[in-house]
Amino acid sequence: MACDRCGDLLDVVYDWDRLRVPGSLRDFEAKWARRDNPHHFSGVWRFHDLLPFVPVEQCITIGEGQTLLLPSEGVARYTGIKPGRLFLQYEGMNPSGSFKDNGMSAAFTHARFVGASRAACASTGNTSASLALYCSATKLMRAVIFIGSGKISYGKLSQALDYGALTVQINGDFDDAMARVKEVSSQLGIYLVNSVNPFRLEGQKTIMYRVLEGLRWEVPDWVVVPGGNLGNSSAFGKAFHELKELGLIDRVPRLAVINAAGARTLHELVEMRGLTWNHGKPKLETASTYYDEMDSKGIRADTIASAIEINRPVNLNKCIRALEWCGGVVRKVTDQEILDAKAQVGASGLGCEPASAASVAGTKALVAEGVIAPDDRVVCILTGHQLKDPTATVAYHTTDQEQFNKVLGSRGVRRAAFANRAVAVPNNLDEIIKAIRLYS
Ligand code: F0G
Repeated sequence: MACDRCGDLLDVVYDWDRLRVPGSLRDFEAKWARRDNPHHFSGVWRFHDLLPFVPVEQCITIGEGQTLLLPSEGVARYTGIKPGRLFLQYEGMNPSGSFKDNGMSAAFTHARFVGASRAACASTGNTSASLALYCSATKLMRAVIFIGSGKISYGKLSQALDYGALTVQINGDFDDAMARVKEVSSQLGIYLVNSVNPFRLEGQKTIMYRVLEGLRWEVPDWVVVPGGNLGNSSAFGKAFHELKELGLIDRVPRLAVINAAGARTLHELVEMRGLTWNHGKPKLETASTYYDEMDSKGIRADTIASAIEINRPVNLNKCIRALEWCGGVVRKVTDQEILDAKAQVGASGLGCEPASAASVAGTKALVAEGVIAPDDRVVCILTGHQLKDPTATVAYHTTDQEQFNKVLGSRGVRRAAFANRAVAVPNNLDEIIKAIRLYS
């Protein structure tokens, strides 16, 4: 998955002159009339013309990408955006409950194309759930997944186990698991589906095509996305760059990538130490110096948003390239800000897991700074379903101070300003009626 000479990750590049590219994005709409064809039904493969690395008949789909772009008045108000200008792109509606299925359908397709029989990944939970589901739904490959001990939420672990993946739990965190899975897959010849795999990113480009589709092919002003391993932000940048080169859009949106403060490598490198893509000549020593500092001080990522609890994002270079293409910015938000934003998302129609709410918390911070204007059109990507991490949600809303402190207090979360607490009532009809009258 990396270049033999420079060691950097590979990219998928197309010879567009020899391919059939639609004249307008509207041409994709015709496929809606032919939804009985699984490749037209898929929210990934109906855009096959823009990711044509395998003939469409051989592309694997389990119905991924049936996702929603919804305006949210509540979240707009919370973040300081004018009504009607803020949209949530809800990727929790994918078959395994997160955006990962977009990329997995593409990597899985490529894996089968090259004849693989086993696929592996390291994961903070969602990639593994997605791979496990594609394997169990299609029976085309066996899944081998690596997870860190105690670092994965129960919702995600339960998926991998239920879907029958070989689950290897190692002593360490995501970065340790990532290093090991690379070694193991190269020794045993197992196909690697982490986002070091460039085909994963091709599938994730389609999230942006669906955002444009949801906005009737108009480009938003901002796309705001949580940053972990930086696959999404890299894919989004590539999607817009290609559309612009192909003349299918006339401008690109700005990109905001939001780190958790407890896992802030990208923020540190870009905003504090000035790392840029520099037109293809980034000063990569900036990253290696920072990694050495982290190692010598024993700093490890630590955040309630376990999906993005990552020290060394593998797609760093592609992400800074995307930031250059899209006039991007990076911000970090605390676990307190993440959980408050998550409660606002839940109260406004769509639930999400903690990492996803970083996009909303980041939007609020950027509006407060004056970087995002209140009448900008903003799309926040909600990367994962609310049920992925019930422990964090229940701890936020609980009346049990001990549970709150145990799960959240250690992470610097002091209050739950938007908690919706359960009301304890004796099992007595009169008392129950009294309570409902009082609280409703
Ligand atoms: N949101 C969720 C819900 C995720 O699961 C992840 C990544 C991200 C955001 C970050 O996305 O890596 O593209 O910057 N989860 C990976 C996993 C690492 O193993 O499931 P990114």
